[in-house]
Amino acid sequence: MTLHEENYSLLKTVEWKDNKVVMIDQTKLPNQLVFVTFDDFNQVADAIKKLVVRGAPAIGVSGAFGLALASLQSKAKTKQELLEDLKIAKEILFKTRPTAINLAWGLEKIMNVANSGNSVEQIKTLVINEANSMAEQDIETNKTMGKNGSELFENNDTIMTHCNAGALATVAYGTALGVIRAAKESGKIVKVIATETRPVQQGSRLTAFELKHDGFDVSLIPDTAVGYAMANGLVNKVVVGADRIVRTGHVFNKIGTYQVATMAKQHGIPFYVAAPLSTFDMKSNAKDVIIEMRKGSEVTGIGDKKTAPDDIKVINPAFDMTPPELITGIITEKGVAKPPYEESIKKLFEDT
Ligand code: MRU
Repeated sequence: MTLHEENYSLLKTVEWKDNKVVMIDQTKLPNQLVFVTFDDFNQVADAIKKLVVRGAPAIGVSGAFGLALASLQSKAKTKQELLEDLKIAKEILFKTRPTAINLAWGLEKIMNVANSGNSVEQIKTLVINEANSMAEQDIETNKTMGKNGSELFENNDTIMTHCNAGALATVAYGTALGVIRAAKESGKIVKVIATETRPVQQGSRLTAFELKHDGFDVSLIPDTAVGYAMANGLVNKVVVGADRIVRTGHVFNKIGTYQVATMAKQHGIPFYVAAPLSTFDMKSNAKDVIIEMRKGSEVTGIGDKKTAPDDIKVINPAFDMTPPELITGIITEKGVAKPPYEESIKKLFEDT
């Protein structure tokens, strides 16, 4: 299948088909559209680690599907044995990436359902059904979030986004890009500026690709041009996704988000975050959140091409923290939280 044969917006990033997990291999985009099929939860864990699937909601659902595979792989004869096997699989899946809370959320949800079953067969069915309904719910949540957020945008806005919080970061539709999609669907003309997002280039490889494919007016800029774009009036608003939001409104998202938010503040440009409630961590403090550190080769080269001297020391954090004072609003499926965030975030959960 070539990229152009497909209506991209209808494709699912991750899906359960014939008792297997099917994913788009995002490491191959934008040059090839390749689907990979897994029947072993260890393969799913490996795919999460290697960014075959990435983006907080997508890895949450992938973790859930991983446990569904683990339940089918298990040779357990009793409920207790099956729960033990699932627990081992859960630990392996959980250890793949530390920052996005959606992974823990997805795994926990499946474990709770598994615990509620009576027999081995019933647990397997419950686990598979729950993982599938999480995948369906993800799309619905994104659409509701999109509608809530689209009202914050005006006709002829140019919206900057960082990394990929699109269809490819979720099961479909996207969070930050879902909001932009919904603004367009509501009849507004919107343009998008996508940052390249070094080192892994989710912005150029995924966001620019996804939006261009779906007919958006999108321009790609290097990360270093964020200040230029804002200072020269090229941007009206910013919307990004999140990997974890703590109850104080501190937002953890792709490395570079903090720079974009700081620059937006400097230029008086509204800076929004779009994320489902599954991305909120109401227990941790901002200082306790683990920032994933990735291998140096992501920085010392682009693809296979080496762009740095041999043996150079590298610092490669995958995420950073944006403090609440830089954030204009947090768009969720339950509405838009505004400062002070301790109160407005608490309220989102009280109403659920
Ligand atoms: O390292 P990645 O590609 O998984 O990082 C993804 C991001 O930082 C996204 O902005 C975030 O997960 C939100 S996705 C809806």
